[in-house]
Amino acid sequence: LERDLLSQVAAASDEAALETVRVAALGKKGSVSDLLKTLGAMTPDERKVRGPQINGLRDRVQGALAGRREALAEAALEARLAAERVDVTLPLREAPDTRGRIHPISQVMEEITAIFADMGFSVAEGPDIETDELNFTALNFPPGHPAREMHDTFFLAPDAQGKRKVLRTHTSPVQIRTMRAKAPPIRVIIPGRTYRHDSDQTHTPMFHQCEGLVIDKAANIANLKWVLEEFARAFFEVEAVKMRFRPSFFPFTEPSAEVDIQCSRKGGEIRFGEGTDWLEVLGCGMVHPNVLRNCGLDPDEVQGFAFGVGLDRIAMLKYGMPDLRPFFEADVRWLDHYGFRP
Ligand code: PHE
Repeated sequence: LERDLLSQVAAASDEAALETVRVAALGKKGSVSDLLKTLGAMTPDERKVRGPQINGLRDRVQGALAGRREALAEAALEARLAAERVDVTLPLREAPDTRGRIHPISQVMEEITAIFADMGFSVAEGPDIETDELNFTALNFPPGHPAREMHDTFFLAPDAQGKRKVLRTHTSPVQIRTMRAKAPPIRVIIPGRTYRHDSDQTHTPMFHQCEGLVIDKAANIANLKWVLEEFARAFFEVEAVKMRFRPSFFPFTEPSAEVDIQCSRKGGEIRFGEGTDWLEVLGCGMVHPNVLRNCGLDPDEVQGFAFGVGLDRIAMLKYGMPDLRPFFEADVRWLDHYGFRP
């Protein structure tokens, strides 16, 4: 029996076969268990002889089973290792490009900052939540002035004094902050987020502007035109660009103008520095004497000019993006599509 059992164990080729052998030998009705049961009916003398024999048989079968089980497990592991071995000689699979992309607004802000830095402008900033005083009154929008209505303002809940702060509707309040904080000469640009209650293909409730402000003894309209032309040339990367100054109105500048730049449009493609079409790109003007006075400056001593560019708008124009809404949808495929650098 022993030889038979041990050869069965050795022949078991997997865990299941081995289990069958174990049950046939050591299970409740197994051959070895049957032998063990016979011990009970033996005389003490018989048992003395047969007991160690049968128990020894059981131990050896158990030992053989355990040994075989271990061998099978080891073989299974070897087989798995062999099957899952990495073939380091295989050519590389193309790695997915998981790097982020710079956002067009950040890109345009960087470009503008660099262009104006070359012309001696530094950068100033102010808060998104602004007082009514700085967003409007100090900029020569008297209370109740109709120009306030044109700004589609988001108001915050009034404070204990009944004063309502606003989400700034333009970057111009930082003009006031700058003039109140430092003496002329002033040459700053002011990039930042701005807010108006407006939403369609080319307007989002939060958008971006970049303000420019120059104050000194003799800053004049010719200087303003030169600065804007330099900017447009550098930004749109053209040799020369024609600009058109259309009379306009802003409470904080006088005279005021809206500026168009020359372009051509062929089949939806816009090119700058050529053609006979015009695209509006910014607002500007000479700083209003009232604004200077509101900042403690004497209009007989200093003067200056200001301009305000919609960053989202010029990003759309420069990079040929027809819709503003994806700017704020965080879809990386859209950034990839327009090829922004990582
Ligand atoms: N603040 C104006 C706007 O948002 C733009 C502007 C800035 C105009 C500076 C003139 C001078 O429409």
